[in-house]
Order: sequence, then C-alpha cells, then structure tokens
Amino acid sequence: MDKTQEQPPQKKVRVLGLDDVPDGEARRVEVEGHKIAVVRIGEDLFAIGDMCSHANYSLSEGPVDPEEVTIECWKHGAQFSLCDGIPMSLPATQPVPVFKIERIENSIFIHIPEGSE
Ligand code: FES
Repeated sequence: MDKTQEQPPQKKVRVLGLDDVPDGEARRVEVEGHKIAVVRIGEDLFAIGDMCSHANYSLSEGPVDPEEVTIECWKHGAQFSLCDGIPMSLPATQPVPVFKIERIENSIFIHIPEGSE
C-alpha cells in the first residue's frame, strides 16, 4: 500500500519573505490558528510549534544554536531540535510539532494540514 496516500491534505501558505528572517534567528507567525516559529540557519529553514511544551512560552523569542540545530526556550532553558521538535534537555519532556517548510525564490511557505485549526 502506498503510504503517501495516508498523508492528510495540506495547504501551502506564504508566511514571510526570506529577508524577514535573519540568519540565526527566529520569527513567530500564526497560520490557520497554528503558532509557528520560523527559523533560519544559513540557507536552511525550519518550522516548529512556537509554544514551549513545558509552559507555553514563545520559543521564537529564545536563542537559536546553529551548531546543534536547536532553539532554546528563554523561560527555563529547554532546548528543542529544529529537525523533529524533540526536547533535548529538561524541563520540557514533550515534543512540539514540526511543519514542512519550503522556500520559493524569496518567499517562505509552510504546509499546514487542512482542517487542523
Ligand atoms: S516554559 Fe519553556 S522550558 Fe519552561
């Protein structure tokens, strides 16, 4: 059976221009009710849920570690992998969601599962 047929339909939404996200920084966007941190490390882009799974503080306000490819919650210091949203350190223990992100020329798009508001 083709597993790709099991993926829910996704909506592609332009969220920012590439120049809106400086290298090594994060910007918060809200799309279809999802709060998302868009992170840029060089030419690589990442999109993870913006609300820390420990106590709902905004991850996009924390520092990005380009070597570890993580973002740190500024409130209590939990670090999250930008690749899969998994917490790499306490006090967070639950992952945050990740979203497919795409660059087309100078625009950044995020793929949101349809009907997921
Ligand atoms: S709120 Fe993020 S680590 Fe506590």
